[in-house]
Amino acid sequence: MQLHEGLIVRDYRLLRQIGEGGMGQVWLAEDINIERKIALKILSARLSADAELVERFRQEAKLQSHLTHPNIVSLHGFFPFEGTYSIVLEYAPGISLKQLIATIGPIPFARALKILGQILDGLEYTHNKGIIHRDIKPSNIMVDIEHGDSVKIMDFGIAKALGDLSNTNTGAQIGTLYYMSPEQITDSKSIDHRSDIYSLGVLLFEMLTGQKPYDISTENAFKIQSQIVYDEIPDPTTIYPHIPQWLVSILYQMCAKNREERYQSINEIRADIRRMSPPVRPEPVINLKHEAASQPAPKLDPPPQEKSSLKRLFIWAVVIIILIVGYQVVKGFLFTGRDSEAADSLQVESPEANYPRHSQEDNAEPEATDSLKTKTETQPSAQPAQPAPADTL
Ligand SMILES: Nc1ncnc2c1ncn2[C@@H]1O[C@H](COP(=O)(O)OP(=O)(O)O)[C@@H](O)[C@H]1O
Ligand SMILES: [Mg+2]
Repeated sequence: MQLHEGLIVRDYRLLRQIGEGGMGQVWLAEDINIERKIALKILSARLSADAELVERFRQEAKLQSHLTHPNIVSLHGFFPFEGTYSIVLEYAPGISLKQLIATIGPIPFARALKILGQILDGLEYTHNKGIIHRDIKPSNIMVDIEHGDSVKIMDFGIAKALGDLSNTNTGAQIGTLYYMSPEQITDSKSIDHRSDIYSLGVLLFEMLTGQKPYDISTENAFKIQSQIVYDEIPDPTTIYPHIPQWLVSILYQMCAKNREERYQSINEIRADIRRMSPPVRPEPVINLKHEAASQPAPKLDPPPQEKSSLKRLFIWAVVIIILIVGYQVVKGFLFTGRDSEAADSLQVESPEANYPRHSQEDNAEPEATDSLKTKTETQPSAQPAQPAPADTL
């Protein structure tokens, strides 16, 4: 079946293609009866021809249709149409986390934590129901950047329906491979919810650094699997230095190779984030549209130490300016106010009040002398002034 804009697929009019993955194409579509927008995932002809797989999809769709959570894309239906099968999904506006990372690079950690927190909420809900996602990765997370980065997780259980991904070597599924837990590779039959925790750790690494933790130059599935099982996750701060250490340690515990050493539940991760994170500081908001138009990666924030020393320098500069201006004002006041009370009191209190007049006064032109005299008579102590405050600065 040739898919195109305007095509009516059962009750849905295709509006525009919004994605393509290992399973087929995803279209934004409109329900022609109730005019509601939905996402239609139309399975490829190859998958649709596999009766066993289609049955697994139907079973998973049945399970998923009971999931109702603000951070999970709901599933509304599964139906055959002209030799293919389609899954009717809630339309999640925004962009995938994969696109977000590709556009802005490393996500500032407060923003990454906001996204992570919502994924934790969605996963906790399904884990409590005994449902494992099995394919947590950035392209399965939608982020509505226009509405406060609200998050929806997509494709629950799809990986289970697709079967053992570790035996595959196709380009589309290589993308999935990087996020697989070690036990998904070594013993995929025995995985539990802790596998999702590992995959989420890899996803967190990618959010914080803008990169996957493994060597992505290879398309060789065996090499990727070997890295997952044997290689340690690198220190993310070597890629992006502004990640706080407490968050790095949470990330490491999510990605522990041995699932017994991993966080045992979503709740444990949330509790550690709450316990270890400092009070929230405002971070610069990234305008994705602007960033995308001007440059692909965001500017690195200066490290916190640099910020605070700049602030200190600024405060000192202001203090110095105030002192200088203050000194000038006081000086002007003393030297110009002939009858000022301040000058009088200076005259009385200053021990230098009886200093002899400068000889230059005697040599001065008459008029000038007069004016000088008047000045010095009223402020005799002004000439042998106190050490200027400026000298002490
Ligand atoms: N329910 C949905 N709402 C909005 N966009 C979606 C939805 N489902 C899928 N997409 C988009 O289609 C893309 C491809 O999805 P998919 O076929 O599941 O492949 P993959 O997850 O391997 O990228 C997603 O990354 C996303 O951008
Ligand atoms: Mg998907």
